[in-house]
Amino acid sequence: MTMTTEQLSATRPTSGKAKTRPWWRHPWTAVAVLVVAFLLFALPPYVTLDPGQSRIPVRFDIPLYYPVLIFHIFTAVIALVIASLRISPWFKRRYPSAFLTSERLYVFAGVVPSAISALAIGAVSSFGLVTRTSHIIVATLWLVCTIKGYRLGRRGETEEQRRWMLRSYVLTTAAIVNRMWAITFLLVLSPQVDTLFGGSQQAMLQAISGMSAFLSWTVPLIGLQWWQDSKDAAARRRASSMGSWQHPELVRLQDGVQPVGRA
Ligand code: HEM
Repeated sequence: MTMTTEQLSATRPTSGKAKTRPWWRHPWTAVAVLVVAFLLFALPPYVTLDPGQSRIPVRFDIPLYYPVLIFHIFTAVIALVIASLRISPWFKRRYPSAFLTSERLYVFAGVVPSAISALAIGAVSSFGLVTRTSHIIVATLWLVCTIKGYRLGRRGETEEQRRWMLRSYVLTTAAIVNRMWAITFLLVLSPQVDTLFGGSQQAMLQAISGMSAFLSWTVPLIGLQWWQDSKDAAARRRASSMGSWQHPELVRLQDGVQPVGRA
């Protein structure tokens, strides 16, 4: 870990806005509600460990498919829960030492095992080649962003660590965004199965799965990059209006931006 709990407390955001905003109006509350709703919806068929209850077609021709799928899901839950906690200002304030140690858990008990198993099941997905391609790319990016963020943190490069960890968190939530796209496409495209897909349900489902898979991570990653760039540009503008001695990172902290390196 690169910061002690004391250092962490010392770098808490100071803006009045962040302090006075009621908890139910904080964006994190919406994320927490979404994550809990997703877990309540997604997990029940898999906690029974009965392949017959799986929501997706199980590849019975590959004996390891179902155990790897279950391994992926349970480790992904660890990643998703910890990512949601780590973006919460409440968690960081209330449990500073758990906040610091949770990063290692996120990386080694969550993302790394979950992404490796996602690569394995993603490569043989029943939803077609486009979905397989997306799964392989996003699982690789998930691993790369997380490990890069973790290693930057170990080297004390906290600003860059924060950027890469935020990318990692966004990729972790791709599972939720994916289902939202899929439901939307299903509602829009189902009535057009005859005109657009020659009556083939399978062709429609593969198209929906492929589009949802790609959109679930490309759009949020682009959005995050745009947000980070806008914040940087605003900090640079403020720094130049304050005088060249003022480093943009100091300006970001004065603005009440989260302390660097701790997403
Ligand atoms: C970028 C990260 C992720 C990747 C690449 C990924 C990949 C996959 C793949 C390949 C499958 C098998 C289905 C298929 O072939 O399409 C799957 C299923 C599943 N994944 Fe993930 N996953 C990711 C993150 C997560 C997260 C964070 C969760 C949260 C708990 C999760 C929960 C599930 C569940 C519940 C299933 C079973 C399918 C269902 O019932 O909808 N995944 N995932």
